[in-house]
Amino acid sequence: MSFDPGQVFDIELRDGTPLRLRVITPADRDRIAEAIRRLSPESAYFRFWTRARTVNPRLIEALCSPDQQDHVAWAALHRGRADLPGVGGASFWRLADDPETAEMSITVADEFQGRGVATWLQAVLWEHARSLGIRRLVGHVLNDNLAMRAWWDALGATAEERQRHWLMRLPLDESLLPDSRAAGSLRQALARVRGVGGSDPVRTPPAAPAGGARP
Ligand SMILES: CC(C)(COP(=O)(O)OP(=O)(O)OC[C@H]1O[C@@H](n2cnc3c(N)ncnc32)[C@H](O)[C@@H]1OP(=O)(O)O)[C@@H](O)C(=O)NCCC(=O)NCCS
Repeated sequence: MSFDPGQVFDIELRDGTPLRLRVITPADRDRIAEAIRRLSPESAYFRFWTRARTVNPRLIEALCSPDQQDHVAWAALHRGRADLPGVGGASFWRLADDPETAEMSITVADEFQGRGVATWLQAVLWEHARSLGIRRLVGHVLNDNLAMRAWWDALGATAEERQRHWLMRLPLDESLLPDSRAAGSLRQALARVRGVGGSDPVRTPPAAPAGGARP
């Protein structure tokens, strides 16, 4: 199964918001730092598990240095709003002791939550992961992160209770997706990412990055 990480996906959310999905590169360092700075305290806590308002620069460095093999990272950028650093990001790291499993993280800017951004990022990560031989994604979800828990529940993930979080496991097998609304949304996004079922969203890489002047 082939998947070209150089692909750029121009898509529209349900409400028509135009987004571009593309891989993250080291040139996105400032963009990522600014996007994190703009998160609400709750979203930042759910993503980074700390109430501290500064994010370790080494973490930002790690986030924007994917090798697109064992560490894969994608951004969702607004195609019409140059004032936004980005509307979402998602990444996974392959587990060293279990190369068919990768740990996934995802964050959507607060004002864009509930509009389908994470579903699109999930679809791209799903296809990218499968092309690299990854068979399941795991996520560490804080106990009170109800949105994330409800979403992956609706995608058929299992949840194992730990001290302050859930260890969730999502098999990358479309035939195992349940009959839920979230799974239906993901199926549609997967079809678009694969270039079937709707207008072809795939474009060659653009000459200049979308979503703002910041590199
Ligand atoms: C969790 C998160 C990534 C979801 O992103 P999103 O763009 O809002 O998600 P989507 O709009 O694509 O919705 C996906 C599904 O999640 C579910 N969902 C989303 N928000 C929900 C909420 N507040 N309560 C219950 N279910 C919710 C729905 O089932 C939805 O699918 P549907 O609308 O097709 O039924 C986002 O809330 C976020 O960034 N939270 C802060 C950071 C975080 O928690 N990251 C995860 C760390 S493990």
